[in-house]
Amino acid sequence: MTKSAQLRTLLKPPKMAWNPTDRKLLRAAGIEDLRKLARKRVPRMVFDYTDGAADSERSLSRARQTFADIEFQPSVLRDVSEIDTTRTVLGKAQELPFCLAPVGFTRVMHPEGESAVASVAAQFGIPYSVSTLATTSLADIAAAAPGGRHWFQLYFAEDRAMVKELLGLAEEAGFDTILLTLDTPISVPRRRDIRNGLTIPPSMSIGTFAEAWLHPGWWLSQIRGGAPSPKVLAATSNGSASDLIKKVFNPKLSVDDLEWLRGAWSGNLVAKGVQSVADARRVADAGVDAVWLSTHGGRKLDRAPVPVELVPDVVDAVGERIEVLVDTGITSGADIVAAVALGATAACVGRCYQYGLMAGGRRGVVKAMEILTREIEVTMKLLGVTSVDQLNRSHVRLR
Ligand SMILES: Cc1cc2nc3c(=O)[nH]c(=O)nc-3n(C[C@H](O)[C@H](O)[C@H](O)COP(=O)(O)O)c2cc1C
Repeated sequence: MTKSAQLRTLLKPPKMAWNPTDRKLLRAAGIEDLRKLARKRVPRMVFDYTDGAADSERSLSRARQTFADIEFQPSVLRDVSEIDTTRTVLGKAQELPFCLAPVGFTRVMHPEGESAVASVAAQFGIPYSVSTLATTSLADIAAAAPGGRHWFQLYFAEDRAMVKELLGLAEEAGFDTILLTLDTPISVPRRRDIRNGLTIPPSMSIGTFAEAWLHPGWWLSQIRGGAPSPKVLAATSNGSASDLIKKVFNPKLSVDDLEWLRGAWSGNLVAKGVQSVADARRVADAGVDAVWLSTHGGRKLDRAPVPVELVPDVVDAVGERIEVLVDTGITSGADIVAAVALGATAACVGRCYQYGLMAGGRRGVVKAMEILTREIEVTMKLLGVTSVDQLNRSHVRLR
């Protein structure tokens, strides 16, 4: 290289972004950076609704700590110049070994909401799970992400006619998988939400007024976009947002309902929120295609089991018959690799992409996906693994 060429390389300006949001996103190096950005961008009650967990929040902190304590066991002298991150999940190949978990009221975090998340998931070639409490209609979500794979998360209301209507909407919109959430027989407010006076949709109170001045952009965008409401539920019945939400929690839910659902839905059926080997066997016996080990991101039962710790035993018990998905506490691509190495077909993430959405709308979700993708690739290469399918228990030690 000539001297002037060397000089030109040295003087090459770093990647710049003129838009302040893009500039901040450009510098985000990990999901924690997106979390910090999110905290600045949205009012405390919105951040806490997403970031918070049940009661003492130990279910979440223990799950995160367990991931942090997992030790990788790398192999050297492998050619890792090319790697394959694809994985087949519930009958379809996807680009990465993880899925986006359902999150209710996503338009509260950012008015671009579910449509933005769906289009980013499609761009990165992974499935997006849409909540029963979504704030965008299923048809609009499907239209925003042509070619994307969409799953529908079902809260099984006591009224089976309502459940049938929801299944019909999912089928019509081309969703191929139903996730039945089992860890939420009742809805209990979280401590942070009580302290913040959270209402859904968010409303201005004396307590939130002062805080709102710090985030005028968020309030303006919410006013412009219209108050988020449970659009999917509203398509099945009338009533205020809180009336509709109350209808979906069903303390009487039983194995009979699961078996009925198996008969009523011909696509993939996944039991989400299973937290023991015994229950994994029960849902497998009822005919589901996958069990999704989850404590709802630690948002329901406090001091719940750590889902990722259950993976090896559940895979040993039912892995020959059904697939095993896992979530709760994942904050990096390395966590995803660890979950898959322990035996999960795929991992799922909730807050990771929601932090991105709060930090910068669609662009923030893209950034979260870039971070996780890069971390998965780097972890695989440094482990000496060239394809996701090669990952196995010899690559990790649960401590
Ligand atoms: C703000 C928020 C809302 C959620 N809403 C739902 C929901 O409507 N239905 C559901 O099954 N799970 C819901 N979840 C749980 C997620 O699907 C997922 O299990 C959890 O976020 C995984 O943990 P992680 O956030 O540590 O990745 C929600 C999670 C969060 C953070």
